[in-house]
Amino acid sequence: MKKEPIILAIESSCDDTSAAIMRGRKSLSNIVSTQEIHKEFGGVVPELASRAHQKNIIPVVDAAIKKSGISKNDIDAIAFTRGPGLLGSLLVGVSFAKSLSMALKKPMIEVNHMEAHILAHMIDDDFKTPEFPFLCLTVSGGHTQLVVVKSPLEMEVIGETIDDAAGEAFDKISKIMELPYPGGPLIDKYAKKGNPDAYKFPHPKVGELEFSFSGLKTSVLRFLQKEVRQNKNFVKEHLLDICASVQKTIIDILINKLKIASYKTGIKKIAIAGGVSANSELRQRLLNNQFGWNVFIPDFQFCTDNAGMIGIAGYYKYQKQIFVDQSVSANARLRI
Ligand code: KG4
Ligand code: ZN
Repeated sequence: MKKEPIILAIESSCDDTSAAIMRGRKSLSNIVSTQEIHKEFGGVVPELASRAHQKNIIPVVDAAIKKSGISKNDIDAIAFTRGPGLLGSLLVGVSFAKSLSMALKKPMIEVNHMEAHILAHMIDDDFKTPEFPFLCLTVSGGHTQLVVVKSPLEMEVIGETIDDAAGEAFDKISKIMELPYPGGPLIDKYAKKGNPDAYKFPHPKVGELEFSFSGLKTSVLRFLQKEVRQNKNFVKEHLLDICASVQKTIIDILINKLKIASYKTGIKKIAIAGGVSANSELRQRLLNNQFGWNVFIPDFQFCTDNAGMIGIAGYYKYQKQIFVDQSVSANARLRI
């Protein structure tokens, strides 16, 4: 029987330091250290993120190796996130991968973070895996994209945001309401107890497959400023309804665009990826859809930033022996 490759994967593109060990498509370990330091600043501070990655990377990699039960010498290749992301954060992972590759004399595989979010669906775990081709809505703190996934190494972006990402909209609106960062999970939590039809916010007027969320943020800001002038406790008193109404608007926008993309491509296998795919309303509405879609949602740990997804993307490149050498550099604006 062919031996499945063992890949050590490293992710450091934003504010999570993560390492995973994959054996073939199975994740043997997936350790994520989330940097708490950004909470008090209401968003990720790049310089602090980079420093925290430097501090965390060795313990996180050690923990991933220990938990997997393999030894360092069993590793066949090292996969790392080359981009997109924050340059200072990416540099830590890229430099670490380069040094380890030299020390262990094992090849390196560069991975695109956005492709990895999508390929998380292919991890062999207890969630169902889509067959190619499928349509993926990738919604994270930095990106909102509609991608036709033709094969593990062949993807086409057919639509994306022209300004803020969906996760950014959640985070910026929650910041207006003085909720801690990241606001997405909190809005999700409060929305469960609120009335989604309490307040109406406009949908953006953009191209058929384009997204825009900066107008929504401004309209929520103006609305709250007006209400607060009359009642300074407005946000506190109506938090649940505001959260439910904002969340409904964002999810309506996402699902409408998915409907257009599915109609245009004729693809009914619909996957979601990225941090916002953890959102309970998005999941529920997709799973209960009336459009004949077969919906794919990976396990929670593989939705937000994690190295398991870098490992599976690395696995597909390993199969084709697509490696990079020591001249590789981080690319903060890497595109699919
Ligand atoms: O993919 P991710 O972990 O990091 C990036 O690559 O950006 O996504 C983080 C984003 C944040 O904006 C966070 O607020 C959002 O995902 N998020 C959520 C939920 N969980 C995380 N947004 C809405 N509902 C959630 N349950
Ligand atoms: Zn991400």
